[in-house]
Amino acid sequence: MKQNINIAWYLPRPKPDHYPGGMPLHCEGWLIDEAKSILRNPAPKILQLFAGMGKYGLRVDLKKEVIPDLIADAHYLPLNSQFDIVIADPPYSKDESKEIYGTPKPKYRKWTKEADRLLGPGGIMIVYHKILMPNPNKKKYKCVRRVFIGTRANHRPRVALFFRKLENHTLWD
Ligand SMILES: C[S@@+](CC[C@H](N)C(=O)[O-])C[C@H]1O[C@@H](n2cnc3c(N)ncnc32)[C@H](O)[C@@H]1O
Repeated sequence: MKQNINIAWYLPRPKPDHYPGGMPLHCEGWLIDEAKSILRNPAPKILQLFAGMGKYGLRVDLKKEVIPDLIADAHYLPLNSQFDIVIADPPYSKDESKEIYGTPKPKYRKWTKEADRLLGPGGIMIVYHKILMPNPNKKKYKCVRRVFIGTRANHRPRVALFFRKLENHTLWD
């Protein structure tokens, strides 16, 4: 029987003073827990791109105001170690990037390629967005979970896609 990989959550909004574009309450922790359970690894190495006020893993952001562990551009990461989970919540559009964060629009193919360089075989790339983003590389990744997240009326649900890197690939094709 085919496994159902789709899940839906209805989560409360964060506090009114939350970071603009921040995830709903519990969302980040629950996504990480879901990935841990898929990996069967209770203590994975986590890299968080476009971290904002996210709490988990090695937090990378362009803006020093969010006090990231590493101030860097997700397209060019000064890192070489391998991670078990890469979680990414990029700005959704050119306008949002510019108006909310004062940053250029992220280039999906480029930053996912960089994330891929740092993700170990069997690892999971979690892409959080308001649309279903494409598989970064169908030869190397399989979508193993889709989490649809609703927060309130008149608000578009978000979706977190879990792309699992196949064990036998280490190079970008
Ligand atoms: C949607 S917010 C992340 C919110 C976060 N998930 C939270 O719950 O607080 C996107 C973040 O990406 C950062 N950002 C934008 N472009 C970036 C880039 N090229 N590299 C790294 N960070 C970037 C912004 O500064 C912003 O903090």
